[in-house]
Amino acid sequence: MDKIRVAVLGATGMVGQYFLHLLHDHPFFQVAAVCASDARIGQLLGQVRPLHPAGIAPELAEMRFTSMDADAIAALEVQAAFSGLPAEIARTIEPALAGCGIHIFSNASAFRMDPAVPILIPEINHHHLALLPRQQHKGRIVTNANCTSTGLALSLAPLRELSIRRLIVASYQAVSGAGYPGVPALDISGNLIPWIEGEEGKVRQECNKIFGCIGAGGLEPAGWEVHAHCVRVPTLVGHLVSTHIELNREVTAAEVEECYSSFQTPVEVAGLPSAPVRPVLLTHEAGRPQPARDIEAGEPGRTSGMAVVVGRLEVSGSVIRQVNLANNLVRGAAGGSVLNAELALRAGLFSH
Ligand SMILES: NC(=O)c1ccc[n+]([C@@H]2O[C@H](COP(=O)([O-])OP(=O)(O)OC[C@H]3O[C@@H](n4cnc5c(N)ncnc54)[C@H](OP(=O)(O)O)[C@@H]3O)[C@@H](O)[C@H]2O)c1
Repeated sequence: MDKIRVAVLGATGMVGQYFLHLLHDHPFFQVAAVCASDARIGQLLGQVRPLHPAGIAPELAEMRFTSMDADAIAALEVQAAFSGLPAEIARTIEPALAGCGIHIFSNASAFRMDPAVPILIPEINHHHLALLPRQQHKGRIVTNANCTSTGLALSLAPLRELSIRRLIVASYQAVSGAGYPGVPALDISGNLIPWIEGEEGKVRQECNKIFGCIGAGGLEPAGWEVHAHCVRVPTLVGHLVSTHIELNREVTAAEVEECYSSFQTPVEVAGLPSAPVRPVLLTHEAGRPQPARDIEAGEPGRTSGMAVVVGRLEVSGSVIRQVNLANNLVRGAAGGSVLNAELALRAGLFSH
């Protein structure tokens, strides 16, 4: 199979550079265009400040930034675009590209709550791809969740049959979640900031959409009551979320442990290059999960950072408490979008 030619939008940024790392040797996709703000057009990708620890792959470094003009990108025979654009830019660029038949896999929040756009986390809601024919443009827009919602949602996926009623969460979010250059060093060094613009509302809305059901009238949200406090902390990568889950019935610790140990990747998703064999890992080790030790979770090799680690599990009556950790740049951003594109390819999106 010839590889599908793709563009990376926002290729100078935090998420964009993680895309470049994950895509440069991908079995299905080939980076054919890189874009950022207009001032970059014509510059070499190898000249940008590296934000991924592995740097820019030598085979990509000689690429030059191109315009984000939709016709110009389509002329490069690009069939998909991975977007790491700010939401306000994505709001006009993404539909313009989709109008030219380019499928968009986006990290931006611009279209997450559009009723025709799925917030896809394949292990939870691969069937939400069924929303795509409701979109007006030929190219489809698929989003992934906010980086905090992603880890939280995956950590809840094994419990979804237990009839969740209410969530109370507190997040501890790494500075890389704010992009580059992000939060000023003098604000965050030795400090915590208990406010991240827009984040708490995103967690509330997105979790309900992710676990929603598709009916004749479209997607019906899960209807969970969600309360969140989101805090920026001076770690580099990895969002930790302390989670209090209230159910409509009592459960035992054994029942909850069984939910975690039996949770499996659905067959529709299993075997995709970016799908870890076990997407949710439960640990009983004291003091885990923690960013310094758990952000690379995920097997096999290229799925490193794609698994969510859950620890500190406590069960009492109808309340479950746990702490979960996700790599915000991999599972919560670029890796999540790449997995979504792999699933869309398997589901036949690129054949139409
Ligand atoms: N960081 C995370 O953990 C994370 C996780 C999930 C989702 N997200 C979302 O992903 C998106 C990217 O986040 P990020 O952390 O990678 O941000 P970032 O580091 O600030 O990168 C933003 C990118 O957008 C480009 N850009 C900015 N203004 C532009 C314009 N007017 N026209 C074209 N390109 C423009 C920048 O290019 P220049 O360098 O040329 O300005 C840069 O490549 C955001 O929507 C964010 O909310 C981020």
